[in-house]
Amino acid sequence: MGSLFITTPIYYVNDVPHVGHAYCTINDDAIARWHRLVGEDVLFSTGTDEHGLKVARTAEAAGKSPQEFVDSISPRFRECWELLDIDYDDFIRTTEPRHAVSVSKFLQMVYDNGFIEKRAYKGFYSVADEEYITADQVDDYNARGRTVIEAEEDNYFFLLSKFEDRLIEWIEANPDLIVPTSKRKEVLGFIKGGLQDFSISRASIDWGIPIPWDPSQVTYVWFDALINYLTVAGFGSDDPRDVERFAKFWPVVNHVMAKDILRFHCIMWPAMLMAAGLTPPARYGITGYLLVGGEKMSKTSLNAIAPAPLVEEFGVDAVRYHFLRDVNFGNDGDFSYEGMLARYNSDLANNLGNLFSRVASVIDKKCGGIGPKPGFDDPAAKRLRTLAQDVFDEAHEAWSNLQPHHALEATFKLVREANAILEETEPWKSEPGPELDALLGNMCETLRIIALLAYPAMPRAMTTLWNRLGLSGNPGMQRLPEDLIWGGYPGSVKVEKGEPLFPRLTASAE
Ligand code: MSP
Repeated sequence: MGSLFITTPIYYVNDVPHVGHAYCTINDDAIARWHRLVGEDVLFSTGTDEHGLKVARTAEAAGKSPQEFVDSISPRFRECWELLDIDYDDFIRTTEPRHAVSVSKFLQMVYDNGFIEKRAYKGFYSVADEEYITADQVDDYNARGRTVIEAEEDNYFFLLSKFEDRLIEWIEANPDLIVPTSKRKEVLGFIKGGLQDFSISRASIDWGIPIPWDPSQVTYVWFDALINYLTVAGFGSDDPRDVERFAKFWPVVNHVMAKDILRFHCIMWPAMLMAAGLTPPARYGITGYLLVGGEKMSKTSLNAIAPAPLVEEFGVDAVRYHFLRDVNFGNDGDFSYEGMLARYNSDLANNLGNLFSRVASVIDKKCGGIGPKPGFDDPAAKRLRTLAQDVFDEAHEAWSNLQPHHALEATFKLVREANAILEETEPWKSEPGPELDALLGNMCETLRIIALLAYPAMPRAMTTLWNRLGLSGNPGMQRLPEDLIWGGYPGSVKVEKGEPLFPRLTASAE
């Protein structure tokens, strides 16, 4: 099986984590978990972006040195990812020494290849976006409340304009490069409109990584930040383990991010890699925004929602499930408490939770609490095992194509089918015997398969379900599709009903 390197953007530390950041990270985590389940070697990274003018200014406003400030915020992201069961392999901070080594090496390669030049720069810079802008963009940026400053200094420029043809060729040769395809068109259109060289260093600030051949300047924050992906993959290090990692995980990289930073990732970044003589990424997944009341959630809009209270109210799995299931990957999604509550009650409490509790109750009453072996040729087994196979195929395709909402929609077909069979057969009215045993075994087997399929979205609850069915370990230790083949439930194991997996919730008073 192959290898996959999946990344989140690294988050700016001038903001504490909100559900907009969580949305992107949860998508990555679930996709990474699916790929691990199907036996791929996965490297999943996230981290924090800690240099740049915006951070330096936020630190100053907080009365701290930049280092003190970033040291105080970066752990908030780690805590948040722990709360949300994000199983990353690497958390990178751009202030780490390994990153400085990698950035220096990379810059030197691009410089030696002749794609960096010193020029006088006079123009405008948007601090919030960490972006150089043109004179005719200033009004628009000001109107959006962005601070624009005038900059005039000698800077190093990256010769992006030299890469127009190569970028177009690369994108056209890879029709699946950018998901969704509407974003691919947007990127192509932008490149065809003409690319400008841009400044990649600053003489006037010192919060950054020095330019290796001219330490009086520091690297522009985006040039620094994008290279995090190389650092994580092991670039810049001579340690044989890093060299091996780099050979395995570059360029099989899948970057996931929201559309706001599409151009940096799909134009600037591949051109930088080409300039260094490295291969550009294999894939991009571009999400929409999580909106609150129709607006992008952000610190400046004062509409940022922290994940912790949601986790407290709904549980971590329900929060993850809601984001994955209710926002179509690539589209904007409106976040609302009511929407979340409705999805929780319909899919999790009333469907999945109820399915397990009904099955466990009947097993408790009629089978002495011991889960029976599934059948194979009885009508319920036939229906469920055919559907399980189809659902796996559908879910696999959906997860592989960055469509978590489809994968989960497919997975829940099995939940609904099992509930429908329960309604039809009413096992709670049946006498104990082989027929009832087969039916309940079929239900345990279906729940086992559901636990496997839904594990990437709800790792904690699906581990609980797995254990309540009498199975040891957790679904993440299995391999698909082998361990999904009908008949894997061993039978003769204790099924534990326990507290409801997803207790029904009513709207909170506030
Ligand atoms: N530091 C840069 C990224 C550098 S990556 C080499 C950055 N950071 S950020 O913290 O401002 O935003 C990073 C990402 O967070 C966005 O691209 C997006 O993926 C995610 N989101 C932030 N707010 C979001 C929403 N409201 N909705 C969806 N995603 C959001 O840009």
